[in-house]
Amino acid sequence: MDKVRLGFVGAGYMGQLAHLANFVTFDTCEVVALAERRPRLARQVADKYRIPKVYKSHLDLCNDPEIDAVAEITSDDLHAPVAIDLMNAGKHVFMEKPMATNVEDAHAMVETAKRNGVKLVIGYMKRYDPGVEVAKRMIDDLRASNELGPITLVRAHCFGGDWVCNIGKHITTDEPYPEVVRRPPAGLPEARIGPFYGFNNVYCHDVNLLRHLAGDVKTVKYADLNSPARVVVFGMDGFDAVLEVGGISANFWDEEFKVYFQHGWVEVHTPSPLLRNVPARVEVYKAGKIQERSQPQAIWDWGFKRADEQFIECILHDRESRSSGADSLRDVELMEEMFRTFGG
Ligand SMILES: NC(=O)c1ccc[n+]([C@@H]2O[C@H](COP(=O)([O-])OP(=O)(O)OC[C@H]3O[C@@H](n4cnc5c(N)ncnc54)[C@H](O)[C@@H]3O)[C@@H](O)[C@H]2O)c1
Repeated sequence: MDKVRLGFVGAGYMGQLAHLANFVTFDTCEVVALAERRPRLARQVADKYRIPKVYKSHLDLCNDPEIDAVAEITSDDLHAPVAIDLMNAGKHVFMEKPMATNVEDAHAMVETAKRNGVKLVIGYMKRYDPGVEVAKRMIDDLRASNELGPITLVRAHCFGGDWVCNIGKHITTDEPYPEVVRRPPAGLPEARIGPFYGFNNVYCHDVNLLRHLAGDVKTVKYADLNSPARVVVFGMDGFDAVLEVGGISANFWDEEFKVYFQHGWVEVHTPSPLLRNVPARVEVYKAGKIQERSQPQAIWDWGFKRADEQFIECILHDRESRSSGADSLRDVELMEEMFRTFGG
């Protein structure tokens, strides 16, 4: 195979602006079909992006032998059932985060990918940000060399802000939104389902990137999930990690990850998600006789585009993704554990 024939599910906001706009520019794939429940929207988006086939449901993509892989950009509750249908039809699947809204679904997705020998990739685009790549390499090297001593603490912070950054308009419709069945964690009290969905939707990014930069989370030691700004303490491999999340009215993006070593730190400030081609800012501090602060510069590129690109590359070269379903399953487990143990 030298080109992936791609189907696409969901012509909503993120589908149009964060993904279709990328996939249609790649030489390595061809977008051959779009499935969208709202037919007028589907037609208009397919015309704009010159997609030859238009379907009403992802089930039509399952039955189309011309399709090798599908990008699924639907709402959170649909991620699992739609992906499982597609993978059972032998299609590789790329999807937006969060992978699922409950642990059973996430396990079923990983098992279905394995059984059918297909790739399941979650679009955790921050892992593909060029600045995050620089920071990750530096953290890994500093850990291996022990130049700054052991890690003493990791801080992950996200208060958000303006995540859209004037990216532009998408095609909208007045057709009614399709009915979606909720799939909350089994047994979670009704009053906690809304808070769980909100937290899982936004801050799964931060748990995911924390694990990428600092290694696996061993335990959830403490969580305050009821205050306006929420705090979680994770037990890692020999140190703790603090996650602080909340909201702020800002016209910039307030998110950072800081890995403290005994003799310095590596800090990475991620850009607003839809700000194209501006990489995360990285700063490194080294203590010692000569104190040193540096700001390694990464190339200009966009995490969303690079996440989409790597999905296609993983299929063409049979590679494991850096944000596979098998890896992302851990985020869903941790989300449920936080809410079950400390959810209030
Ligand atoms: N990575 C990020 O930073 C980020 C930011 C925002 C949203 N997201 C994620 O992106 C995903 C999509 O968000 P959105 O804002 O584009 O949602 P949206 O509601 O605008 O779009 C979803 C589309 O899917 C269509 N649809 C629903 N069921 C369908 C089916 N069975 N077959 C075909 N089409 C179907 C809907 O009609 C809708 O047009 C969500 O999971 C969200 O969490 C990620």
